[in-house]
Amino acid sequence: MITLAIVFLTLNALGVTAVSRDFSAVVHSQTPVRALVSDAYDGATPRPLLVYLHGFCASDDAQQALELTSMRRVPAVRNRLGVDRRRQQVLVQTGLREAALAEDWIYVAPQAPRTTRECVLCNMPERSPNSQDRLFASWITGIMARETPEFACRAWDGSDAVAFPESGATDDNDVHYIEEIIEATKKQFNVDSDRIYIAGIATGGFMANRMACERPGAFRGVATFSAGTFKNASRCTPDDKTSVLLIHGTDDLTVPIDGGVNSRGVAFPSSDESFEILGDAMGCSNVISQERSTLPVDGGNSQPDVDVRKRKFQKCAEDVKVEQWTLKGVDHFLERPTSEAMFKDAVAWLKDLQ
Ligand SMILES: *[C@@H]1O[C@H](CO)[C@@H](O)[C@H](O)[C@H]1NC(C)=O
Repeated sequence: MITLAIVFLTLNALGVTAVSRDFSAVVHSQTPVRALVSDAYDGATPRPLLVYLHGFCASDDAQQALELTSMRRVPAVRNRLGVDRRRQQVLVQTGLREAALAEDWIYVAPQAPRTTRECVLCNMPERSPNSQDRLFASWITGIMARETPEFACRAWDGSDAVAFPESGATDDNDVHYIEEIIEATKKQFNVDSDRIYIAGIATGGFMANRMACERPGAFRGVATFSAGTFKNASRCTPDDKTSVLLIHGTDDLTVPIDGGVNSRGVAFPSSDESFEILGDAMGCSNVISQERSTLPVDGGNSQPDVDVRKRKFQKCAEDVKVEQWTLKGVDHFLERPTSEAMFKDAVAWLKDLQ
């Protein structure tokens, strides 16, 4: 049962002119869904669809607006005494929308249908170089701790380690919810069914990777930032194959790249483990090739670019690709040029998938 109510408005804040079409999908619970199309969209030609899953407690709009100002270590730059150099940085997680709309893709950003008052990945250690990240985490925990039962964070049920959704939970309803969002979008827009992609950040990234494990046939490709998959590889036994790109910063202290345990002691895997689990799941041979590239940072020519290590399995079943990009010195939030270039590269990667 899905009802649709459409509102048209133009978003001038985006680099490209885009038309926003909000609709309500009544699935397991009613949550707003935002769809964006470029102004070139005419409904006559089927267009690829990108489903984007937000991070913990942050709607897509909130995530687009969030800026953290922080004194941070400059990646791989040390002074003469061997001490990391610091400079003020403005950190974001933006650029995916713009990159998708520049390709005239349909962009849909549903909100997680379930809520929780427990931030299980808010146990960020004091050694985090990014004090604003810590403040963000304590702000969330502070809100949760107060007696505001009406306030709860939306969270995707991406794995047993990243979220404990309390409202409306059954085992697989987030998976069904995303399927129904896609069906609703197909009714509303001219979607190229062979070119449906899903992307996510953090808990939303775990959820996108869960879709790779549980609904691989629905997607041409999956791209996630600051996320992983189930620690238990038996939870990822797809009946079909899809391509997966994992992107992670080495200095991520919210979802550490080396894995860890959440505040309830439930383990989540490192980026390397997730890469291997998903490679196995997608029938990849164990030959891995590696190359390097860079991403820009703020600060002009005096700042070195971010070093990116790209690893991929040479051959996977059905010629899908499983790839991992490791961003040196990058945290859970990124400098704007790095973020925008990274998401642009991720969209190009998805677009190139055969
Ligand atoms: C791993 O997942 C499988 C499948 O859900 C389950 O049968 C098994 O008990 C799990 N193992 C552990 C150690 O949790």
